[in-house]
Amino acid sequence: MPRTRLLGRATTMAALLCAVPLVAACGGVKPQQANVVAGKQLFVAKCGSCHQLDRAGTKGNQGPNLDAAFQQSLKDGFGRGAVEGVVYKQILYPNRLPNVAGVKMPAKLVSGEDARDVAAYVASATAKPGKDTGLLATAVKAAGGGTAVEKNGTLTIPADPGGQLAFVASKAIGQPGPVTIAMPNKSGTQHDIVIDGLGKGAVVANGGTSSFKATLEAGKTYTYYCSIPGHRQAGMQGTLTVK
Ligand code: HEC
Repeated sequence: MPRTRLLGRATTMAALLCAVPLVAACGGVKPQQANVVAGKQLFVAKCGSCHQLDRAGTKGNQGPNLDAAFQQSLKDGFGRGAVEGVVYKQILYPNRLPNVAGVKMPAKLVSGEDARDVAAYVASATAKPGKDTGLLATAVKAAGGGTAVEKNGTLTIPADPGGQLAFVASKAIGQPGPVTIAMPNKSGTQHDIVIDGLGKGAVVANGGTSSFKATLEAGKTYTYYCSIPGHRQAGMQGTLTVK
């Protein structure tokens, strides 16, 4: 994160904080307590595919690393309340121009109370060593632990429904011969499923299923992954064993 831009943002923080009713000192109305547990879940579902934030366990790399983004501001003495205001404003009014990689952050991925909750969570978690505790620790179920097993000629390997860059199962077992590889994706984050040399399903989101037909060879292992840029690198892959 270039320091100049951060300082540029910092100077607008004061004005911003009173424009957004996040801080009690700005007005007579007592703000409602933000729900950081809901904020974490929404962050993982709506933001994590583009942003790394260690406490949320997200590894997206399309946008800036959100731990690094606020490190200097926090060191410089800006409180987490100020960071919350910056994040809230960014959610509603991201840059209209794409970044160097050609990626543009969509505006209002969350709005209203949801945007407040996400901003509060990000502000509480950014650049903070250690792990989330209490209710926050269990707010998002870790993806990737399961094993998918071929049934009736179909091997179903869903994408994480919560939007994490992971399949529900990072291991799969198939049988030799023809198979349909199917990846239902309930999340709003676009994914596909690919096995090099075998096939590639369509890119889907919001309840679509990515699938292709292939023939598995006895004794072989294959790697399945999502080919959307950054997703495989973030861990969206698994091993298919044929036996
Ligand atoms: C499609 C990818 C994408 C998604 C999804 C996305 N962002 Fe971004 N985000 C970006 C990009 C690209 C930038 C850098 C350009 C800009 O500032 O708009 C950015 C910048 C930011 C920044 C500013 C960081 C800095 O260095 O100053 C914050 C904060 C942020 N995003 C938070 C969020 C939150 C919260 C969400 C979910 C509601 C979200 N983003 C969803 C791509 C994304």
